[in-house]
Amino acid sequence: MLRWDWGSSPIGESVNGQIAFRIGVSAQLVLFALVLSTTIGIALAVYTASRQYRFADRFRPVKLTKSSPLQPTPPIPTDETTTPLPIRAAKHAHGGRRQTGRSGQVEPPGSVETDGPPFPDSWTAPQRSADTAYGRHMHENPPPATPAEVYIHGHHASVLRSHRWRTAENSAGYLLPLLKAGQYLLDLGCGPGAISIDLARRVAPGQVVGVDREQAPLQEARAVAADQRVENVRFELGDAYGLGYPDASFDIVHAHQVLQHLSDPVAALVEMRRVCKPGGCVAARDADYQAMSWYPADPRLVRWLELYRRVARSHHGEPDAGRRLLSWVREAGFCDITSSASAWCFATAEDRAWWGGLWAERVTQSALAEQALARGLATRAELAELAEAWRHWARHDEGWFAVLHGEILCAVT
Ligand SMILES: C[S@@+](CC[C@H](N)C(=O)[O-])C[C@H]1O[C@@H](n2cnc3c(N)ncnc32)[C@H](O)[C@@H]1O
Repeated sequence: MLRWDWGSSPIGESVNGQIAFRIGVSAQLVLFALVLSTTIGIALAVYTASRQYRFADRFRPVKLTKSSPLQPTPPIPTDETTTPLPIRAAKHAHGGRRQTGRSGQVEPPGSVETDGPPFPDSWTAPQRSADTAYGRHMHENPPPATPAEVYIHGHHASVLRSHRWRTAENSAGYLLPLLKAGQYLLDLGCGPGAISIDLARRVAPGQVVGVDREQAPLQEARAVAADQRVENVRFELGDAYGLGYPDASFDIVHAHQVLQHLSDPVAALVEMRRVCKPGGCVAARDADYQAMSWYPADPRLVRWLELYRRVARSHHGEPDAGRRLLSWVREAGFCDITSSASAWCFATAEDRAWWGGLWAERVTQSALAEQALARGLATRAELAELAEAWRHWARHDEGWFAVLHGEILCAVT
């Protein structure tokens, strides 16, 4: 018979007719470590498998390619057809309220914006959902509290000038082949609404809802839409992490240069997916600061880029978002993804004066400047020097600047 004798008998010695095995102290430690690491390994494997199961269960794969356009639009869901639970990644599924806006105001999810113009009687795009199952759920289980996020550019005149220049064509060209008359489209983080209004013209008689966390650009957006007599667009206050619309409300959910400013872009993508109809599409385009190129070389512009990226990261934003979109949408659970890139280019005297002048103002007068100063990342004298670099670039006859963007189209099942 074999018997273990912890440390007292020599190996293989026969004691009272039994063969005893001696194990020294270091061998005991090795054995203990082996048992412990095996136990931890098994526990980790079980935990990972259970998480993957829950995640995979939420998102079923779907095929969307350029040759397989969006499905016909199913009817807008009613309260009865609305899935009551919001889809959020497990790590976000705790209680509390999210702080919104630069002032850190708390905005309850699903709250209704009241100071805009009344919508026409014919308006049928998805309404805020305080009275829906989803709305009730959101009021009982508000989104998590996280540190207040800041839109680092703010809405200074120099920033809005850049947003107003944007069109569906120069900023959402990758999405245009999917647009059809009659679609409902959500434009998340719409700012002053130039892209939303342009998209509204393209999906009419469908309707567009522009949502932003800040009030000021929304007022401008409403005024511009009224001025241009675009009636199939409305603008509402809202938060990317807790959109107050029922599940499966929109054919297209779009965000231009928004995810790059969020501390949790994956959670926002999961929420975008929730409000998108099966057969619809989640679309996003974001700049990639590290990939910006220009001529002629100027070390002060290198310093400008470095400063911008440091300020963005200090707010938990991702200045190089363009290259990360694909990884974010995969993490959010999308399976059928079309990834592309496109660029803005400023190379004429007029474009240079506009782009260079705009940045010269931004680096000295916008929220970006305030934050760089507040964080001790630059002095006023340095910012003035960066502004001068921009004006110098704008005056250069051969000046050229390109802003690369990543783009993503994700099919929703
Ligand atoms: C760079 S601007 C883009 C505006 C517009 N999409 C465009 O391209 O002209 C980013 C916008 O996202 C908004 N934003 C930032 N965080 C947000 C959030 N959590 N929910 C909704 N909007 C947000 C900002 O207020 C800002 O207007």
